[in-house]
Amino acid sequence: MTKYIVEGGKPLCGEVEISGAKNAAVAIIPAALLVNGICRIENVPQISDVSLCMNILEQLGAGVRMINRHTVELDCRHIHSTRTPYEMARRIRASSYFIGALLGRFGQAEVAMPGGCNFGGVRPIDQHVKGFTALGAQVTVEGGFIRAVAQNGRLHSANIYLDVVSVGATMNIMMSAVLAEGNTIIENAAKEPHVVDLANFLNSMGANVRGAGTDTIKIRGVECLTGGSYAIIPDQIEAGTYMAAAAAAGGQILVKNIIPKHMDCITAKLQECGVEVEEHEDTLLVRRTEPLRKTNIKTLPYPGFPTDMQPQITTVLSLAKGISLVTESVWGNRYRYVDELRRMGASIQVDDKTAIVEGVDHLSGAPVQASDLRAGAALVIAALAAHGQSEISCVHYIERGYENIVAKLQALGADIRSVEVPDEGEELGIG
Ligand code: EPZ
Repeated sequence: MTKYIVEGGKPLCGEVEISGAKNAAVAIIPAALLVNGICRIENVPQISDVSLCMNILEQLGAGVRMINRHTVELDCRHIHSTRTPYEMARRIRASSYFIGALLGRFGQAEVAMPGGCNFGGVRPIDQHVKGFTALGAQVTVEGGFIRAVAQNGRLHSANIYLDVVSVGATMNIMMSAVLAEGNTIIENAAKEPHVVDLANFLNSMGANVRGAGTDTIKIRGVECLTGGSYAIIPDQIEAGTYMAAAAAAGGQILVKNIIPKHMDCITAKLQECGVEVEEHEDTLLVRRTEPLRKTNIKTLPYPGFPTDMQPQITTVLSLAKGISLVTESVWGNRYRYVDELRRMGASIQVDDKTAIVEGVDHLSGAPVQASDLRAGAALVIAALAAHGQSEISCVHYIERGYENIVAKLQALGADIRSVEVPDEGEELGIG
């Protein structure tokens, strides 16, 4: 397995180019199944979750052709199976999107329960199932697979009110409804940039989806989607992670290829901490020369502060003068990384959903282990800011969602390298 060795304490300086958004890509790739034609998708991030989605698509009979590093052509005209390979699909949460896409196009889908969850588990999919059922599907669980079948061969329209604001349920229901008969309405929909990106992708292929980005999405079913070209939006969380890295380690970086509006929630909080952020058309200049100041943060669905930035910002706050409170209100338990930060000298107490962060003067390098994607990103940030050497293991989690993170940080002057060590066993993550 791979580990990262980081010599911390060097300010970051230079430019970083942000890749396409992971959480848009892992939905748009399965959504290509809805298209009876060729989709050309640009700005596809080169990360392991995306490769896995493309492998699953290929196993179903899709043509997958890389045009260049970040552009792929997906041809879903000759799909021969509506059952995803078990071992591949169970590894990522995003495999649930294959249910919406297969069900929408073929009226049936069999997909391994994503990420090892079950309906009552830590990452439930009850709202996805509620939507599919309202659209006329029968959903059962058999042998580790979720099986969804349109009772009359084709789904019909429905009014669906989501009981919780769910990104996954909003996107999955949107996929299953674009080819359904009639007009579907999703209320209390998620408004994240990747929800809008999926709607824009589907519309560019011939769908009729209105209102994405608000809490009411209206979908008029069409007979078929044909091919087209689409570019994925930049990754809000990857950009936020580099901003947080500059905040923690100090220095000045130019974050390129971003949509500044998507960054507002992160920019505002970093500014409260004393970080200077200058906004340009599609770049942000981030500078930290002064000591960091405390702030309080609560994660919320978009446009609130993203849960996927919670570990990274908590790491920044672990170096801010005073006591900061961080409240996680999207996920029940997203503080597993805190024990690792404590090894590095952070002073953080977790009380249920709140982390009480007492800023310390500095962190010290240590051997630490990533427990999921953003936890891993937080440890990289901590290691960059820390005095001395850190060794980060289980970095396969990080590589699920960050393209070329080592090279991008090296280009910013960081002393980080990737080394191969004998395998000690890998776990499944949450993605
Ligand atoms: C997506 O997960 C992202 N993953 C997550 O990013 C992100 O943390 C999350 O949205 C919230 O923004 C992908 O896009 C692949 P949700 P998702 O459904 O769709 C509850 C990362 O680091 N809920 O919006 O699974 C759920 O328990 C990853 O990139 C139900 O109760 O999240 C949670 O409390 C990690 N029933 C809340 O809703 C359901 O049927 C939000 O979950 C579905 C969700």
